[in-house]
Amino acid sequence: MIEKTLIVLKPDAVERQLCGEIIQRFERVGLKIVGLKMMWINKKHAEKHYAAHSSKSFFNGLVDFITSGPVIAMVVEGIHAVSLVRKLVGDTEPFSSAPGTIRGDYSHHSYEYTDNKHIAIKNLIHASGSKEEAEKEISLWFSPDELFEYSTVHEKHVF
Ligand code: CDP
Ligand code: MG
Repeated sequence: MIEKTLIVLKPDAVERQLCGEIIQRFERVGLKIVGLKMMWINKKHAEKHYAAHSSKSFFNGLVDFITSGPVIAMVVEGIHAVSLVRKLVGDTEPFSSAPGTIRGDYSHHSYEYTDNKHIAIKNLIHASGSKEEAEKEISLWFSPDELFEYSTVHEKHVF
């Protein structure tokens, strides 16, 4: 039940200087940061990360976007972490993402707007969509020696 999941703060989050506020949301719910780094990924890494979307019309725009500036990659750990993080992040389309979610609170792109402009949906953040995706993505972004084991106070009060 204790899971790890990958979170990537995309270039729009970094350039809008929202990283602190976004990371705080994961910490305050009690998720444990077990890995964190800033990276400026190349096209090859981006294409691997988004391989499942390679046939989609938005693929090239998405690769251009995610490689347009530095990102912050992190691995967090907690109970049902994969679905918990998706709940905090909100829907893929910021316009339909509920208030209170990260995408709903800090962004408002719609599919109609970005598809018309042939650009990627700027939704601030990537989060693994399933346990299988999380395992694959964590090994793409982090080596084992970049992930840490330690105790948080939540392990006394929550787990
Ligand atoms: O990120 P998430 O798992 O919520 O969505 P996805 O369906 O796996 O799509 C990956 C990313 O592609 C999204 O986060 C958007 O940035 C982008 N995308 C887009 O630019 N245009 C679309 N019509 C759909 C997705
Ligand atoms: Mg996805």
